[in-house]
Amino acid sequence: MKAVAVTPGTPNSVHLEEIAKPSLDQIPDGLGVLVKVLKVGVDATDREINDALYGNAPTGDKHLVIGHECFGIVEAVGENVRRVKPGDYVTATVRRPGGSIYDMIGTNDMTSEEEYYERGINLRHGYLTEYFVDEEEYIVRVPQGLKHLHVLQEPMSCAAKAVHQAYEAQHRMKVWRPQVAYVLGAGQIGLLTTLILKLRGLEVYTLARGETPNLKADIVSGLEASYVSTRQTSMGELVKVTGKPDLIVDATGSSQLAFESMQHLGHNGVVVWTGITGGDKTIEVPSDSINLQFVLGNKLLLGSVNANRNHFEMGIRDLALGEMMYPGVLEKILTNPVDGLDNYKEMMRLLVEDKDALKVFVNVASE
Ligand code: BGC
Ligand code: ZN
Repeated sequence: MKAVAVTPGTPNSVHLEEIAKPSLDQIPDGLGVLVKVLKVGVDATDREINDALYGNAPTGDKHLVIGHECFGIVEAVGENVRRVKPGDYVTATVRRPGGSIYDMIGTNDMTSEEEYYERGINLRHGYLTEYFVDEEEYIVRVPQGLKHLHVLQEPMSCAAKAVHQAYEAQHRMKVWRPQVAYVLGAGQIGLLTTLILKLRGLEVYTLARGETPNLKADIVSGLEASYVSTRQTSMGELVKVTGKPDLIVDATGSSQLAFESMQHLGHNGVVVWTGITGGDKTIEVPSDSINLQFVLGNKLLLGSVNANRNHFEMGIRDLALGEMMYPGVLEKILTNPVDGLDNYKEMMRLLVEDKDALKVFVNVASE
């Protein structure tokens, strides 16, 4: 069967690879789930893997099958599988366990080991192919009613984790009643985070460069949040209007903005960084001032990556609630379909060149 792969270490090596169809007996103890891939989303991670900034092939292979945002339908299950059955729509988690205590309790997203295993990203093949098999533990059922939001499940899980982590960490306060949140970036993670925070009742400002009108601004206002173009209003100017935010989630992919946001956080607040900055940019920051404000204001900076199955389930619940609150808004994120694995060059071109492509995904197969 066909798969879209790269040769790690070689820039722009994306190609079609012929690989063997997986089978249920590859997973021990009757716990295998064979999934027919219907759609796979791609994001900046896939672009940077193709740029050879990171990503490694599984031991013994020269290629890495990419794609970590999958939506598929269960084709067959092993005799001990209880949670899904043939015909169910599913997605799959990305990180697989290493050897730390965090991996042993199902929180692979929190591994304390330097080396991590991620399907489609590092040391494990991904989902941009026709079928894959995995253990039931890593397969998450997607409700029928969310079928139209297909590849958003994985990015939503990362957004769900980021927000959940912030709230978990804020148990350090005896009461924490955040009112104002800034979301930096209106890509998929920024928009999905906007939804989650609106569902939690916050006043949400989503900041991005583009001037209005534009699609991202439409989606933000569809979610009853406020879109702010940083070309028109800087973060500092916005603070004068809203007061300092209690929570900032950075999803810009710009380390400069991630650091800048630290200067605007309110007392007892938390900044969550989610951007994966694969480059080597160096900037000057007002370090004394940030240091002072963080200490005097008991502020917290938190990094968040990946998601475990609990976060996938949280994300699915919020997508379902989001559809009730703001019907028809979320599907506007799914802007750029590409038909078939054969069109992988067009997929990469959209990722690299098309600045208006909010979400690129491949229609791999129909049911
Ligand atoms: C993926 C995460 C992953 C991270 C780091 C993101 O694009 O969505 O699942 O942990 O990259 O590799
Ligand atoms: Zn991703």
